[in-house]
Amino acid sequence: MDQKLPNGFSDTATENEIRDAVSHFEELLREQLNRQARIAADTAPRDFHEPGRQIRIGLIDGDGIGPIIMREARRVLDSLLASEIACGQVQLCTIEGLTIENRLALGKTVPDDTLAAIRTCDVFLKGPTTTPKGGTVESANVTLRRELDLYANVRPVRVPEENIDWTFFRENTEGEYTLGSRGIAFPGSLSMDFKVITDAGTRRIARAAYEFARNNGKQRVAVVTKANIMKKTDGMFSRIAHEIAAEYPEIETEEYYIDIMTANLVNPAVRSRFQVFLLPNLYGDILTDEAAQIQGGVGTAGSANIGDHCAMFEAIHGTAPRKMEAGEGEYANPTSILRAAEMLLRHIGMREKADILSNTIEQAEKDVHITGHRDGETCAAFGDRMLAILSEGKR
Ligand code: IPM
Ligand code: MG
Repeated sequence: MDQKLPNGFSDTATENEIRDAVSHFEELLREQLNRQARIAADTAPRDFHEPGRQIRIGLIDGDGIGPIIMREARRVLDSLLASEIACGQVQLCTIEGLTIENRLALGKTVPDDTLAAIRTCDVFLKGPTTTPKGGTVESANVTLRRELDLYANVRPVRVPEENIDWTFFRENTEGEYTLGSRGIAFPGSLSMDFKVITDAGTRRIARAAYEFARNNGKQRVAVVTKANIMKKTDGMFSRIAHEIAAEYPEIETEEYYIDIMTANLVNPAVRSRFQVFLLPNLYGDILTDEAAQIQGGVGTAGSANIGDHCAMFEAIHGTAPRKMEAGEGEYANPTSILRAAEMLLRHIGMREKADILSNTIEQAEKDVHITGHRDGETCAAFGDRMLAILSEGKR
């Protein structure tokens, strides 16, 4: 005879649900062990420096203010790379279909055609995409990061007048994000999500951070976790970070918990001493928004999602639905996506072009006052100014 539980489930029904959950967990565990084995076995990054190699750069508009800021990014790249495009060294390809309307209509986070088109590119620049709250359509960002294995989220933040020069290395495929849509729910009683940290996944992001520190003359790396509470996952992340750190004896490794690090970033007495940050996914997500705000707002920061075979560059901010609703989309700040384009150029080895772009952004920021609202200048005015500065430089 079934005994009634307070939530109305009978024992048998609960037992069945537990059994289903356990088999779901087993499937996840096997899948994630396989994923870690694949990462551990993958050792051949793409080389952009082979002579004569054509580089294909994909351009994806996204939703909300995405098409508005991407229009300026495209105009700027067309002008900046005019001669490389003319001789076929660089190809800019527009990739369609990554809109919320299309994704909902097809019931696909990233439509198959879009993903196939992206896979033909070496790198791509992407406008922000809408992530519906709840439901089943996952974040396009999360899917792209996972499908293309873009494991290093690199976010630079600079405030020169305060001597702040930070580079964040956020692990981009694991932690709470790997299985974020595949948790377990017992309606009316409990929900459980999973956090996954793998050995190979941690080694590759830690190595990326320490290599960057070494190649850029940085003295310190701060490893940020909550290993006092998340003992298995963050504990392992921290331990492996220290193992990799041992191969870089010239670099000092400091360990912080995420709570005190969020406080440190708003403490002017200590914040400028940090240089490189190495963090698991969710802490990196949160801390980099805070850092971008310190730089002048999330509209000012670029973000690189780097894998061994492909890389995606994007603005750190979202689609700005409130701005669109207020009819102020045209006033969006394109700086963040332009900074992302700068990172893209550096990634493919076009350092001089990246420097020109960076100087042009700095100059345009002085000339064109963008507030993000009607009281400021428009996104297009910023783009016009960028093009004028670029064409002055060509003369
Ligand atoms: C980011 C964004 C994404 C994230 C969202 C859009 C899924 O906040 O790139 O930081 O959480 O990683
Ligand atoms: Mg974020």
